[in-house]
Amino acid sequence: MAEIAILGHGVVGSGVVEVLRTHEESIARRAKEPIHVKHILDLREFPGLPYAGIFTKDFEKILCDPAVSIVVEVMGGLDPAFPYVKACLENGKSVVTSNKELVAAKGAGLLALAQKNNLNFLFEASVGGGIPIIRPISQCLAANEVTEIAGILNGTTNFILTKMIREHMAFADALALAQQLGYAERDPSADIEGADACRKICILASLAFGAHVYPEEVYAEGITKITLEDVAYADAWGGVIKLIGGVRALGNGKIHIQVRPMFIRRDSQLANVDDVFNGILVRGDATGDVVFYGKGAGKLPTASAVVADVIDCVKHMKARKYLYWEDAKPGYVEAYDRAPAEFFARVQGQGSSDEAFSTAEKAFGSIKRVIRRGEAAGEAGFTAQGLTEREFAQKAARLEEMGVRVLGHILIADY
Ligand code: HSE
Repeated sequence: MAEIAILGHGVVGSGVVEVLRTHEESIARRAKEPIHVKHILDLREFPGLPYAGIFTKDFEKILCDPAVSIVVEVMGGLDPAFPYVKACLENGKSVVTSNKELVAAKGAGLLALAQKNNLNFLFEASVGGGIPIIRPISQCLAANEVTEIAGILNGTTNFILTKMIREHMAFADALALAQQLGYAERDPSADIEGADACRKICILASLAFGAHVYPEEVYAEGITKITLEDVAYADAWGGVIKLIGGVRALGNGKIHIQVRPMFIRRDSQLANVDDVFNGILVRGDATGDVVFYGKGAGKLPTASAVVADVIDCVKHMKARKYLYWEDAKPGYVEAYDRAPAEFFARVQGQGSSDEAFSTAEKAFGSIKRVIRRGEAAGEAGFTAQGLTEREFAQKAARLEEMGVRVLGHILIADY
């Protein structure tokens, strides 16, 4: 019998108990021994539950219980999740977590601690909820050199963009609907400003390339500036706007990583990942593109990934799963504005749209016009190729001096 403890009885924690209870027999068969929840840490009371007797408010009780070999951390956040997880790994207990903040901020140190103490630190549920992605990258695709990962990693923003694209709903209305349906938090800033997707692409980049990337090192832009005009231009160009977390190996030992809205072609594997779904494309040198799709959040999908890690932990109690990365060398993350790319830009002049476009040609050189239905007077859209973000900003400043305002610009992806 494997005894486990769960830190947190919120959405995911209660889901973990539910999955373990519902699939008790099949899980015992797969783990090769029964899995028993001995303690659940939560400050709240749950008097009506059939397992109300195993709740505790005292973390030390779990830490000092020698029978508990695996601790599941599903509290979220860093405090007290980080000191608790660290203490577990220092005291001979393997840890399974769904906590993306924790893995993105402290992954390298916690993996080193787990390795030193011959324990497991597993976090399949931290990215993509129920979508298997950590194990596929670290095991199934291990024969490849991964060159690139691009993901729709945030369900809330994908839902909002889908409503803007399909139903021409304004951003604020789509956000309000997401909140009404429970797809967005009351404070949705981490989602709509890109911080949530940033944590997830940092975890995937750290795993795929073996060096820790911290969210603070990554350019992250959310979807708050995306308008229905941008959506219409993406359509006229031949694609859709998606919030993409992307990382690319540059071939010189450095990586390029960013989170931002991007134009993606309609025939891209990621273009039809809609609503609250997530999609992750992993480009390997042997496999080519491999795409993972599914529910990136929610009680049971996330709990399913957590319980799978628990089963793996039980099966590998005396052996470590190979999952490891180290801290990166300084300068490992290339500045986001140094890589040549293609951009879409939307501009507004005082005269006609044709005049605005020809002024843009003078500032930018060779550009291609994109015309949306219902283009306003003086408005023009165009794409410009082969320039860095920094060069784009310089040319945009020159265009503004020539009397044409740049209303927005969006990176064009090649996935
Ligand atoms: N708010 C997140 C999302 C939850 O929408 O994807 C899962 O991390």
